[in-house]
Amino acid sequence: MNPADPFSQPPAARLPESGRAPEAVAAYDPILTLDQNSWEGGPLGPEAVAALEAGKVLYFPHLPFNLAPSEFRLLTPAVRDPKVRNISLTGDEKLKGAVSDAATIAALEVMIARFRDQATTLIDQLLPHYKPALRAAPTSYRPAKVETRSQSWRADDRRLHVDAFPSRPNYGERILRVFTNINPEGVPRVWRIGEPFEAVARHFLPRSKPYAAWQARLLQMLRVTKRFRSEYDHLMLQLHDGMKADLDYQQDARQLTMAFPPGSTWICFSDQASHAVMSGQYMLEQTLHLKPQDQYDPQASPLAILARLTGRPLI
Ligand code: SIN
Ligand code: FE
Repeated sequence: MNPADPFSQPPAARLPESGRAPEAVAAYDPILTLDQNSWEGGPLGPEAVAALEAGKVLYFPHLPFNLAPSEFRLLTPAVRDPKVRNISLTGDEKLKGAVSDAATIAALEVMIARFRDQATTLIDQLLPHYKPALRAAPTSYRPAKVETRSQSWRADDRRLHVDAFPSRPNYGERILRVFTNINPEGVPRVWRIGEPFEAVARHFLPRSKPYAAWQARLLQMLRVTKRFRSEYDHLMLQLHDGMKADLDYQQDARQLTMAFPPGSTWICFSDQASHAVMSGQYMLEQTLHLKPQDQYDPQASPLAILARLTGRPLI
């Protein structure tokens, strides 16, 4: 392996594939590794853009988020309110989900805001076409140990899924995420990455419950949803739930297990890349939203794929 090759894989970071026999997954690689080691730099070449918009994970093995010496004390689950899943910093600088003294809260805000700025710079420079169209969502800090989290099957992100939110219909808006493992003890964040979105959709659309506009109106009236749930949002939830509820699929679907080591960063459209998190602790994450028409190739979006497969507009 040539270490100067930007697409070479550090072998230690890869775990054996799970699921089907190795020959069935040999031709399938849902990860594109990039050599870039700075939060500034770009743009991505057309091949990497196409990979991202096809639902692949762009992996930067040498892109760490550096902590100040005083910030290592923030790496403890004790700073998280046990009632919430993650600590998050909203665009208007409000920190949610943290429990601690004022100085620690302020230090958390500084650390998470610095990650937000670096992650946003990274995306702006890698993907300049997105820049004027991006809408920032809160930034999260995830200090909880993944393996010991107990939750319902629907909330269990250890099962392969595509991201879809029951209460927040998004009408096809994309969910672009930047993740950095900041574990101080060498512990990787282990993901499974599943098959391409179109394969997921072909598998689960025939099993999906049909959409009913009257139900969507009822959910809106009851304030279960923040706005009217479109057929797109309904189908995305059907995929999310269908995947998570199907234990045979969880085991047998084409997939790759990937250990993202501390000091690495990865990016994907999490509404498109089938993913599951198996283990790890201490990660920072930035979400950015983008309308599918503002992608390099709008036809690659889940909205376009689902509209093509169902033969009708879904929003
Ligand atoms: C998820 O988006 O499913 C969880 C990712 C993670 O926490 O590593
Ligand atoms: Fe997810």
